[in-house]
Amino acid sequence: MGILEGKRILVTGVLTDASIAFSVAKLAQEEGATVVLTGFGRLSLVERIAKRLPSPAPVLELDVQNTEHLDTLAARVGEHVDGLDGVVHSIGFAPQSALGGNFLNTSWDDVATALQVSTYSFKSLAVACLPLMKEGGAVVGLDFDASKAWPVYDWMGVAKAGLESCNRYLARDLGKQNIRVNLVAAGPLRTMAAKSIPGFKEFEDSWPEKAPLGWDLSDTVPAARACVALMSDWFPATTGEIVHVDGGVHAIGG
Ligand SMILES: NC(=O)c1ccc[n+]([C@@H]2O[C@H](COP(=O)([O-])OP(=O)(O)OC[C@H]3O[C@@H](n4cnc5c(N)ncnc54)[C@H](O)[C@@H]3O)[C@@H](O)[C@H]2O)c1
Repeated sequence: MGILEGKRILVTGVLTDASIAFSVAKLAQEEGATVVLTGFGRLSLVERIAKRLPSPAPVLELDVQNTEHLDTLAARVGEHVDGLDGVVHSIGFAPQSALGGNFLNTSWDDVATALQVSTYSFKSLAVACLPLMKEGGAVVGLDFDASKAWPVYDWMGVAKAGLESCNRYLARDLGKQNIRVNLVAAGPLRTMAAKSIPGFKEFEDSWPEKAPLGWDLSDTVPAARACVALMSDWFPATTGEIVHVDGGVHAIGG
């Protein structure tokens, strides 16, 4: 029996089969969950990728900047499952001007987009799913360690720092509904989101060397396993937490 047997899970953020969300959806199904996906923009691509999962999963449209999409999400998900036990936020975006070393010159409009899509949406998604989580459940988001300033990550780093704070406030406010809220801080992975960061290679070159456990830049499974574990019944008293799945880099100085 899998650790998500009988659980109903909403997974956002599948774009390609390299997406962290793809690995989460696949593992969740393998562990016994019923999975519903949401996709942004290129829905036919997401539907094609969804066919590579072990079982078919419906794909619903969700642009986290679109209020109508958020307002109707619970009803649309409710056509496929009668409730949700887990929600995965695997969404991030920043305009090019907000990344790659342009920190001092990025306009507020571009910063605002990065924050709305990458930070505020953690709250928007959780709240949109509340009508389906009457019996409690777990919300998990994908983070990149925001405790320090990194090369090239720039305003996305600020957005992730906000996400880490948002995680704690959501944990505070949803605990009484028996909803746990946690983040998985993954090391660098070669996904579409990562490829769009100018200078991402700096992370690729240094991370595997720095990590006490080593680090495989193309293996999304360790991060996905942590997401699945956090949605299981094996973390019943953990909320507002950040679990680092980075080969150990966060613990090492120098
Ligand atoms: N790749 C890495 O190195 C890495 C490391 C740590 C954390 N993360 C985080 O993991 C999460 C998933 O990213 P990924 O690396 O799998 O890349 P990805 O490109 O596969 O996924 C990013 C997803 O965000 C979605 N998205 C963008 N704008 C959206 C919007 N307005 N509404 C809804 N969805 C939108 C995209 O459609 C895509 O599915 C992100 O939060 C990212 O910051 C990535």
